[in-house]
Amino acid sequence: MTETSTTWLAACRVEDAVENGGVCVKNGEDQIALFYFTRRNEWFATQNECPHRKQMALSRGMTGSATDEPKVACPFHKKTFSLITGECLSGDECAIKTYPVRIENGTVYICTTQNF
Ligand code: FES
Repeated sequence: MTETSTTWLAACRVEDAVENGGVCVKNGEDQIALFYFTRRNEWFATQNECPHRKQMALSRGMTGSATDEPKVACPFHKKTFSLITGECLSGDECAIKTYPVRIENGTVYICTTQNF
């Protein structure tokens, strides 16, 4: 039987985030890429590791939109991922994990759910 524990990680203050870009948030040994789209006033979080060559790089990727779907392109080989579904938009089989984000009293929280 699998049990789930939901934890909200206090990542940073809103004013500490990079506008229209990403930052890397440490969660123990894990790294999470946090993105802030100021034009849309939307936040997204994904794993920081690019699944293509296992580079911890997505937080430094180029952000944008593909037919209104927010995306990030890995800075190494430009593979592109949806920030909503994590799907690779470059046609590859790899995908990335995404995390819910919420803002409360000026603090950005990332939902890190664990299965036991
Ligand atoms: S390491 Fe990210 S696209 Fe190759």
